[in-house]
Amino acid sequence: MNRIDTLERELLDGIAAAADEPSLEAARVAALGKKGVIPELMKGLGAMTPEERKQQGPLLNSLKDRVTDAIAARREALKEQALEARLATETVDVTLPVRPEARGTIHPVRHVYDEVIQIFGDLGFAVAEGPHIEDDFYNFTALNIPPEHPARQEHDTFYLREKPDGTRKVLRTHTSPVQIRTMLAQEPPIRIIAPGRTFRSDSDQTHTPMFHQIEGLVIDETTHLGHLKWVLEEFCKAFFEVDKVKMRFRASHFPFTEPSMEVDIGYRREGGQIRIGEGDSWLEILGSGMVHPNVLIASGVDPARYQGFAFGMGLDRIAMLKYGIPDLRAFFEADLRWLRHYGFSALDLPTLAGGLS
Ligand code: PHE
Repeated sequence: MNRIDTLERELLDGIAAAADEPSLEAARVAALGKKGVIPELMKGLGAMTPEERKQQGPLLNSLKDRVTDAIAARREALKEQALEARLATETVDVTLPVRPEARGTIHPVRHVYDEVIQIFGDLGFAVAEGPHIEDDFYNFTALNIPPEHPARQEHDTFYLREKPDGTRKVLRTHTSPVQIRTMLAQEPPIRIIAPGRTFRSDSDQTHTPMFHQIEGLVIDETTHLGHLKWVLEEFCKAFFEVDKVKMRFRASHFPFTEPSMEVDIGYRREGGQIRIGEGDSWLEILGSGMVHPNVLIASGVDPARYQGFAFGMGLDRIAMLKYGIPDLRAFFEADLRWLRHYGFSALDLPTLAGGLS
């Protein structure tokens, strides 16, 4: 065995023996670093005769390549090993009981979200979703709100930057665009709810720039206003967990429904608290009506054959009423004291059989 072979054995053994990143790095410096054995040998080439150099040069170069490759391979292997070790120590046993010191809570909005899904699920509704960043078409035009329609102003819309083709995306101002997306994607009969975030440039005690709505849509051949009223009454009784709720149906106007009505819930304020179902104060919780034929047409549904109703309800509003929370803005301030007071245990999943709240 010549000198280079012996050296290669030594270097490769050293690399293979490196048990961690620092010792591998030390092996690399010793072999290939400025003062490493291989560069030192290469310096010696200059003093050789051309014949010797012709023979030694390629040998040294290929040695250098093999050592470099061996180091890279070892580095990969060490990384793998480290990851394996980390995964092994970081496993979580999900069957362990909750730690008593874990004090996180479920936000009232999330809890109400789950309650609402339970109730409508029981009534035969499926859950649909749509994007927060929405096309103007779905948020407005298809909902019978053409460009220049005054209703666009009422929505305090957040617009995204204009694109080269002149179109602008919007943060959806309501969950109603999910009506359009659903009707375009599936044939009637349709029975869905679409809970989610909505955005309007508005802020006071009962408005925040981001808030939650739940859309409802039923499309069938014989669905009428009486069904709408029944569904809303059933929902309110189940949600507020009472036999009777004070509800007020008011004639109203939305471009996407005809006729339209808004629904208020009766309540009373008592020392900063809210009492539901008593008193003479009203809080508007939803808008609703029979889906406008233009909306059906824009969504590819034949208005001569199908009709139906839609509603859009403020989730945060009904959470305020049910859980006596006086100021909507506090919902989104992430104040730990507030969250501990109004939050729910992570283990209290609302179910109709086990109780909602
Ligand atoms: N999208 C309306 C709003 O945000 C509510 C609504 C939905 C009204 C569906 C009628 C039908 O105010």
